[in-house]
Amino acid sequence: MPSLTINPGGPLRGTIAVPGDKSITHRAIILSALAEGDSLITGYCHGEDCLNTARAFRAMGVRIDEQPDRLRVYGKGLWGLSEPEQPIDCGNSGTGIRLLTGLLAGQDFFTVLTGDESIRRRPMGRVVKPLREMGASIAGRKGGELAPLAVTGSRLRGIAYRSPVASAQVKSSLLLAGLYAEGTTCITEPRPSRDHTERIFRYFGIPVTVEGSSVSLPGRPIGWGGAKELAVPGDFSAAAFFLVGATIVPGSDVTITGVGVNPSRIGLLDILNDMGAKITVTNRREEAGEPVADLQIRSASLRGINIGAERIPQAIDEFPILCVAAAVAEGDTIVTGATELRVKESDRIATMAAELKKMGVTTTETPDGLIIHGSRDRRFRGASCTSHGDHRVAMSLAIAGLIADAPSRIEETTCIETSFPGFDGKVSELLIKQ
Ligand code: S3P
Repeated sequence: MPSLTINPGGPLRGTIAVPGDKSITHRAIILSALAEGDSLITGYCHGEDCLNTARAFRAMGVRIDEQPDRLRVYGKGLWGLSEPEQPIDCGNSGTGIRLLTGLLAGQDFFTVLTGDESIRRRPMGRVVKPLREMGASIAGRKGGELAPLAVTGSRLRGIAYRSPVASAQVKSSLLLAGLYAEGTTCITEPRPSRDHTERIFRYFGIPVTVEGSSVSLPGRPIGWGGAKELAVPGDFSAAAFFLVGATIVPGSDVTITGVGVNPSRIGLLDILNDMGAKITVTNRREEAGEPVADLQIRSASLRGINIGAERIPQAIDEFPILCVAAAVAEGDTIVTGATELRVKESDRIATMAAELKKMGVTTTETPDGLIIHGSRDRRFRGASCTSHGDHRVAMSLAIAGLIADAPSRIEETTCIETSFPGFDGKVSELLIKQ
């Protein structure tokens, strides 16, 4: 199984772009497939997660032409999908499987959805339960809690659903089902999660209404569906590794161009600024309904802070790299209200505690978070670590390795392909060899 060896080095200097946003790419493919005519998606994420979503639509009769810089999706309209001959394999993607489950619940055909070992361990009841309330017919292991899921398309009705978790995947799954439902679908979350689905629905002309942490959609909307051109912004969650890398490697100065700065995604930016980072946001603009900007990061000394439940949804995917920043910050960083981290690609609280320990960092695990005991004088210990099959853990440990006292080896790094093909090349591009 491939591994990555990271030699300590730096500073990081230069200007880079990062891959297209993974969340937005999934949604751009889905909406383009449901629109009428050919849509053009530029700057898309080439990660395996998104390619699996494209393969799923091809299997349902949608032509998608793939070029390195663009996808052309020949949309078939809301009712134009056809029954796939094989089970749909969503690979490692929670977004792929949960959004497709909602979309497929209202079709007039049968589908089986599955994924890799990690996906088959992750909770699906959070979408299956409300979709069943809408009238969906879904079977799965453990009563529908685990994939594979078998979805028999049915007539759906809109519901008002109060989700126990702040989850854009749950919200988006129900909104996609809501497109096929009779009556209004309304989802209320404990705290607002990322709003890419609401934005792209509006961009395609589908009327969604947002009030606080509730989103409503009229069933079977009419008068929308024209094909669109969409430019996908750079993925803030990919940029995050360099936000932290350039902050912690002394003497660094990195600019990342064209990054999505949707407020529901950039919690890490605010957190790092509160910890003392030097990050400047310039050249703000909007593309396909999403805010975009350039980010400049210069190295800085950090201090530990408290991060409570209210800040978690906006930084949900950035916890592994935040742990790396916290380890070199002065004092404790205390993360609470983050139980959701236990059901990601890995249990990220447990995996980061275990792997950072190998690199000489002391942490205290709690049921809903982690206390990272940081020190400004820290150099990580060069170590042999594993990603636990989690792409964000792999890349976070690689960044830590840049300021270790010896080379580090990270095992199981194939998973980086799910979101950030070419990650190691980007690191090399920025490294000033000494
Ligand atoms: C995503 C939502 C988040 C996030 C995931 C992508 C999305 O998951 O962690 O990486 O694209 O909707 P949850 O909805 O489970 O919080």
